[in-house]
Parts: sequence; structure tokens; C-alpha cells
Amino acid sequence: MHIKEVAKQLNTTSRSIRYYEQKGLISPKKEANNDYRTFSETDILRLSTILALREVGMSLEKIKHVLHNPNMSMNDYLNVQRSALFEKWMEMKDMIGTIDKMIAQTADGQYSATEIFELSQHLKNLKGLRKNWEDKWNFDKQADGYDQNIKMAGYRFNVHQDYEKALSKAADMVRLENNDICADIGVGTGNLGARFLHQGVNVIGIDQSEGMLKVCREKHPDIETRKGHFLALPLMDQQANSVVSSYALHHLPDSEKLLALEEMSRVLTDNGQICIVDLMFQDEAHRSQVINRFRVERNTEAIYAIDDEFYADQSKLTNWLEENDFSVKTHRFNDILSMIYAVKN
Ligand SMILES: C[S@@+](CC[C@H](N)C(=O)[O-])C[C@H]1O[C@@H](n2cnc3c(N)ncnc32)[C@H](O)[C@@H]1O
Repeated sequence: MHIKEVAKQLNTTSRSIRYYEQKGLISPKKEANNDYRTFSETDILRLSTILALREVGMSLEKIKHVLHNPNMSMNDYLNVQRSALFEKWMEMKDMIGTIDKMIAQTADGQYSATEIFELSQHLKNLKGLRKNWEDKWNFDKQADGYDQNIKMAGYRFNVHQDYEKALSKAADMVRLENNDICADIGVGTGNLGARFLHQGVNVIGIDQSEGMLKVCREKHPDIETRKGHFLALPLMDQQANSVVSSYALHHLPDSEKLLALEEMSRVLTDNGQICIVDLMFQDEAHRSQVINRFRVERNTEAIYAIDDEFYADQSKLTNWLEENDFSVKTHRFNDILSMIYAVKN
């Protein structure tokens, strides 16, 4: 087939096709005497893939990887692209929300430049928070050994004490029906999400680590895995009947935790449930008391481990939830591990 026919068949232009050729994405045969391009069936299929991926916003550089990298499947790349689109969507939502406020403030023809500037700075801060998180623990590297490490006992400070008990309690608390959607954020290898599968629930496991998602898929093929971040969940508004999360939120600095709750609330249906099992203190006084005790006991492992992560202040999380119309229950497993269960009213 010649270029014009191909362009017509694929609803594109000859110019775009030549551009993809110039960028090395396709290489149709050229006739020696007149430079005419002949497109085989394979070329056309490849071209249709390129066009489809361009339409969902993938860069040419990424598309090149999709076409040439045997280690990652098309599905993996689409997953990454969806996550990037959700991040952009959240950024657009933040910007539109800010513009709404600016319009309201300027509606009567008068406005305070300081207030408008403050709104813009709030937006700037929000954009920074959503983008700045980085995985300093290298979860991709931890993925293969993760389940084994949970079982290791005998440390002077064992964050996984009561792990099984806590996950079971979370699975008992959350009431779901057949075909409901349960999003497990920071799903890791799927240990919490899998506890909902037998109820006929659709479990969506979300994680920033592709390594963890891979192990999760291998262990629990019925969990749908999605690459994504606490602060830009790859879910539509009101899509999930419940959001659960175990041992993940404490990787977010305090400045990001309330934004994470806001994100959970965004994706929840009315009467949706949040269940968080995580390392946290009851409040600041409790934090000081526990850390002081470790100091007295000269338990440097404990002090180092707590310093390395961002154990929450439970009272701040529950206050936010109550202020945002959730009914909240809490349960404490030990000095550093608690559960927050909240229902959206
Ligand atoms: C300690 S593991 C817990 C895994 C699992 N939920 C469990 O209970 O065994 C923490 C997981 O949270 C994920 N995680 C940490 N911060 C995250 C973030 N900001 N967004 C999404 N996932 C995150 C990590 O990649 C990792 O898989």
C-alpha cells in the first residue's frame, strides 16, 4: 500500500507518517527508482500502534521504547502512561480550583493583589507536594524479598509485630459486596488486597513501585495492578467503594498526608470506607513518650527506624476525617501500629 492510501485508512496525514519514519519509528520499503514507500501489513499495524499511543498522549521517545524494549510489555507502558495522565489531570484540577477562587475574588471588579498572589502560592505549593515525593527506600529492589523480610523476627525493634493481626482486622472491618471496588494503596506484594478477593470484590492494587506491582501480579493475578501515587490516584472520582492501605502512608511526609486523605475521599463513593493500618502515634505527646522510652532503653535501632520514616500523628488524621464528614473508629495494636477506619457520610 502507498502512503496516501495508508494515511486514509488510518485517518492520518502523509506528513505525519513521514515524520514517524524520519524519527525512526517505522521504515517502509522504498522503491529504488522513485523513492515511493510501500507499506506492508506489519508496517500498517505498527503505524496504527504508534497513532493509538500518540492519541493517549505518549511521547515519541516512549513509543520508541514500547516498540523496541522486550522487557516491558505494551500493557506496562500503558499503565505508566495512565499514571502520568492522572498526575496531569490532578494538576489541571488544582489549577481550575484556584482559578475558580480567583474569579470569585475578582467578581465585583475589585481585588486584592495580595490575596490573588497567595492563592497562586498555595497552588504552587500543591503542585510541588504532588510532584516532589521520591522513593528513598528503593521499593523496586525490596520487592522480591519483601514477604520473606516480614517474617524475620528477633530484631530489637520489629515494625511487623502484629502485621498479620492488623491486616486481618482491616479485612474484617471493611464491609463490601460482590463487584464492589476496593483500592489498596501502596499494595506492595498484595497481602492486604488479597484478603478481599474471596468476597467477589474487584481489588485494584496501586503502587508507585513497578517491582512491587510485578510481584503482586505473580502472587495474585486477580488483583488489577495500577501504577500510581498516593497524591494522584489512578482512579476516577467516586470510583471506589473502599480505599485500604497498610504500612504505606508512613512513607509520606506529614505535609502530604492530609492531601493523601483528600485524594482517598475524592475517589470514594458515598458511604465509601477508608481503612488505614499503619505505623503511627496517637498524638505528639505519645510520640515523645515512646521515643523517650526507646532512648532510655538505648534502643538505637528503634530511634533510627522511626527517624527514617514519617510515622503519622493519628489525631491529625482523624481530625481531618471528622472535619470532612467521615465517621471514624480507631484501634491500637501496639505502641506504633494502629488502624483508622472511616466511613464517608
Ligand atoms: C512497606 S510496603 C507495604 C506493602 C503492603 N501494603 C503490606 O502491607 O505489606 C510499602 C508500599 O507502599 C508503596 N508506597 C510508598 N509510598 C508510596 C506512594 N507515595 N505512593 C504509592 N505507593 C507508595 C511502596 O512502593 C511499597 O510497595
